[in-house]
Amino acid sequence: MKRKRMAILTGGGDCPGINAVIRAVVKKAILEKNREVIGFKDGYHGMVHNRYRSLKYNDVSGILTLGGTILGTSKTANPYRYAVRKGNRLEFKDLSKTAIKNLKNLDIDSLVCIGGDGTLGIAYRLFKDGIPIVGLPKTIDNDLRGTDTTFGFDSAISIATEGIDRIHTTAQSHHRVMMIEVMGHRAGWIALYSGVAGGGDIILIPEIPYDIHIIAEKVKERNKKGKRFSIVVIAEGAKPKGGDIVIQRIVKESSDPIRLGGIGFVLGEQIEKTTGLETRTVVMGHLLRGGSPTPFDRILATQLGTEAVDLVEDKKFGCMVGIKENSFIAVPLKEVAKGPKLIPLNHPMIMAARSLGTCFGD
Ligand code: F6P
Repeated sequence: MKRKRMAILTGGGDCPGINAVIRAVVKKAILEKNREVIGFKDGYHGMVHNRYRSLKYNDVSGILTLGGTILGTSKTANPYRYAVRKGNRLEFKDLSKTAIKNLKNLDIDSLVCIGGDGTLGIAYRLFKDGIPIVGLPKTIDNDLRGTDTTFGFDSAISIATEGIDRIHTTAQSHHRVMMIEVMGHRAGWIALYSGVAGGGDIILIPEIPYDIHIIAEKVKERNKKGKRFSIVVIAEGAKPKGGDIVIQRIVKESSDPIRLGGIGFVLGEQIEKTTGLETRTVVMGHLLRGGSPTPFDRILATQLGTEAVDLVEDKKFGCMVGIKENSFIAVPLKEVAKGPKLIPLNHPMIMAARSLGTCFGD
């Protein structure tokens, strides 16, 4: 009998745990469901250009702890708005029909898309165009709707926290203000969680626009109390009250072209000028996306991956596997595609930090 064939792809930024999730999907699909699996290379690029590889048991054996993605990924490939360079000019083409045809020619009965809001937003469009899709929540940013957490987030906050701990000693020894800028896109989850875990004195997140005077007051007050250093954890998407985000670059090929970064330097300079205290900035950036996943992320990715195969078997398409209060649920991609999940202002972690005197710049 012909074996059913499923496909898998990874889109958006890489993060720890992607290989763990690929391993879980492929092993379960082969061992328990007697399926054949192929992986598209470099996210939706692979679907558009029919570039794929077969994923056999041995291909995914030994990759649990490996960072990155064995399939490659892309933050720009979008079949509905596919960037094509013509000399110096950039043109956008709708190549979704080509991508869908490729999938059909390969006789694929289901596609597992591993990604964040960008990748899963595209997955939702493909689903509406008739592709049987199941999504998996991947991002260090933890900003996906419909799920309490995403794999990659725990690893990112663990790396960020280690960074804060290491910077703490320099801040203390040199009596400096140290700014640690972390990723997170438009949401402050990484800054909030690593800021609390690393004992940040000031935590700045996009959800709470800051006032430089309040930050300067906090730093000076600490000095008066004999604490001659301050740790400021700042999300790349943080902004001043009435002000704007700092853009690092524009990636024209991308459907979401803005890349954030640099707010730590801008605010660091302002703090130094306002307080007279030596201030330094460290940007953690892509360090947060690299390396081996934490045990929590390995376990989460493994569970999510096996749940995705169950959704495929049950033909529950158009959904992402999410986790709510420790139970796995099927979240409609329509919900996920609505935009990023920001931190509610009454989040218990914000309240707890405030009650310890942590300043949020407001
Ligand atoms: O979404 C993941 C993420 O790492 C964000 O935290 C960050 O804003 C962005 O991707 C960086 O993108 P790039 O890899 O294009 O620099």
